[in-house]
Amino acid sequence: MKLNRRTLTVALATAALASLLPATALAQKKIVLGFAQVGAESEWRTANTESIKSAAKESGIELKFSDGQQKQENQIKAIRSYIAQKVDVIAFSPVVESGWETVLREAKAAKIPVVLTDRSVNTKDESLYVTFMGSDFVEEGRKAGRWLVEKMKDQKGEVNIVELQGTVGSAPAIDRKKGFEEIIKADPKFKIIRSQTGDFTRAKGKEVMEAFLKADGKKINVLYAHNDDMAIGAIQAIEEAGLKPAKDITIISIDAVKGAFEAMMAGKLNVSVECSPLLGPQLMTAVKDIKAGKQIPKRIVTEEGIFPMEVAKAEFPKRKY
Ligand code: AHR
Repeated sequence: MKLNRRTLTVALATAALASLLPATALAQKKIVLGFAQVGAESEWRTANTESIKSAAKESGIELKFSDGQQKQENQIKAIRSYIAQKVDVIAFSPVVESGWETVLREAKAAKIPVVLTDRSVNTKDESLYVTFMGSDFVEEGRKAGRWLVEKMKDQKGEVNIVELQGTVGSAPAIDRKKGFEEIIKADPKFKIIRSQTGDFTRAKGKEVMEAFLKADGKKINVLYAHNDDMAIGAIQAIEEAGLKPAKDITIISIDAVKGAFEAMMAGKLNVSVECSPLLGPQLMTAVKDIKAGKQIPKRIVTEEGIFPMEVAKAEFPKRKY
């Protein structure tokens, strides 16, 4: 390669400057993302955390991660510490819908963009976050309701339903209830005879189902659980009560985690509505786009399906969570 005097001078000057600067200053500065997770209450949440951690690694984003142990005050504390550390972007999955305005205003004042993942907040001021990515929980409830209406279309008498709700005040608990009720109300034979929170955990799902069985026993025709973990806990309670899950009591749940597929393949769960926790790659793309000053949609909805027990065996090998 021929070098003229000008290119040679520029090359020498660049090399001299590089030798004076520390290597870290030459490398591109990493984007720092602070993520405040709900907790580790379910198989779904574990998969969600894993998706976020591995996607951050693959994208070269520095992740600061905190586990809120299902407590709003812990999540607020974590967000405040991310503000103090001046991270580039804050993302979080709000355990409950309300009570976020103050801390979101603090993030806005510090000019730190906020991304909501999985669950939303109920604020009128949409300028407090850049985007919300995750499932349509109302639609998930509708899918559960439609499946039940179709399954019971020839049933003449009453259909007594017990409902295991998710965490009180959380978006999925509120919306999944709403969507399900919207569909079943079209036929008065469907009756929710009991509805209580199982806090999205197996242990609570089992405990509450035991209480339902004690109170209503053989009267119960259907269990609608807002997530698979509670359904799996409830299956144990049903078996311990001497009943056959998915036969004596039709069981519908949400998430479609591997544990639900195993229960379906064992003939103990009738159907699971999909709710994907694999939000990590999407989140990292959004974080990079925000930092690059690109415009991103206010709402990014995850595409999802529904898996009845009849297809569980064929679908299981394809499941990623
Ligand atoms: O917000 C998503 C819900 O939270 C999942 O359905 C549930 O399993 C989790 O705990």
